[in-house]
Amino acid sequence: MTVEKASSVIIKGVGSYAPPHVLTNDDLSKIVDTSDEWIRTRTGIRERRIAKDETTSDMATKAAQEAMRNAGVEPSEIDLLIVATVTGDHPFPSTSCVTQHKLGLRKIPCFDLLAACSGFLYSIDTAKALMLSGGYKKALIIGAEKLSGITDWDDRGTCVLFGDGAGAAVLELIDEPGCGIIAGDMGADGSEREILFVPAGGSERPASEKTIADREHFIKMQGNQVFKNAVVAMGRSAKKTLEKAGISADEVACVVPHQANIRIIEAISNRLGIGIERFKINLDRFGNTSAASIPIALDEAMRNSRFKSGDYILLVAFGAGLTWASTLIRWQ
Ligand code: UT7
Repeated sequence: MTVEKASSVIIKGVGSYAPPHVLTNDDLSKIVDTSDEWIRTRTGIRERRIAKDETTSDMATKAAQEAMRNAGVEPSEIDLLIVATVTGDHPFPSTSCVTQHKLGLRKIPCFDLLAACSGFLYSIDTAKALMLSGGYKKALIIGAEKLSGITDWDDRGTCVLFGDGAGAAVLELIDEPGCGIIAGDMGADGSEREILFVPAGGSERPASEKTIADREHFIKMQGNQVFKNAVVAMGRSAKKTLEKAGISADEVACVVPHQANIRIIEAISNRLGIGIERFKINLDRFGNTSAASIPIALDEAMRNSRFKSGDYILLVAFGAGLTWASTLIRWQ
């Protein structure tokens, strides 16, 4: 408790990586019955990146290396690693352990965090709590996904939405109150798990010839239901976080939302009363990359000077679970 009052956790540097192969809407229209016009008008997506030979940990490693470079931090200084993902390299061990080895980190605690598209924001809150209570000075948090591996390329209702990539942040514990990660909110509702899930491959339906034949290892989604839940949950969570911080919507310089659908982002802009021009949007080029979506957008927003030192930035996410989260940051 004493530590919390005197200290803050700041974001010292961010980085991201997207695989080079671009899959356009026109490319998709040759695979399933869809069109560039439908995808653009219903989702805002124009293209997405697809990993060919790279794994989730390969992309996580590249994003983390850039984040450490931008933070001016050496791998030997990192005390804690969290990787948010639903598409780890293996069922076990964790992708964070694989990534730790690839990055050449010390034998620090490493674990994966599964909160789907809210995973990066869950990781920020988790890392902050561990840093304030456990004294870890520098943490690396990564959102990394290879969604192309669990996408049903025969299902036009889902395959047009997703992409691959990774984003990372270096967090630092500093002896100054009121900076960096100011406030946050996390929540979940497991009663709605079947509106967005991968049915098989776990203990309920282990892999078998039947689960493969039934295409149960791919993402299944009731798009409409997810859409409605996303708008309500993200709007509510963002408001809660602003209230906790005592900050008004007018004071927010930039909102970095989960990049799932431009219509969801517009609805949140209306609910929060924050003009769409203050939202960072890059889903047109990356699609929905789940846990990687916010850190990729945050990195791009920072490189494009969308905010400056002292500005308030609001991050807000929603995903399978259902899960939702929001975080308010005062940028360094
Ligand atoms: O990361 C968090 C999780 N994901 C999300 O947040 C996604 C949330 N949901 C969405 O973004 C939207 O619901 C979608 C983009 C997935 C779908 O948009 P929609 O406006 O909700 O469309 P719909 O599912 O109600 O489908 C409308 C029509 C249907 O045809 P009929 O039944 O009206 O004849 C679909 O079969 O559009 C059809 N459709 C398509 N047509 C062309 C569905 N997918 C496609 C497609 N191309 N790719």
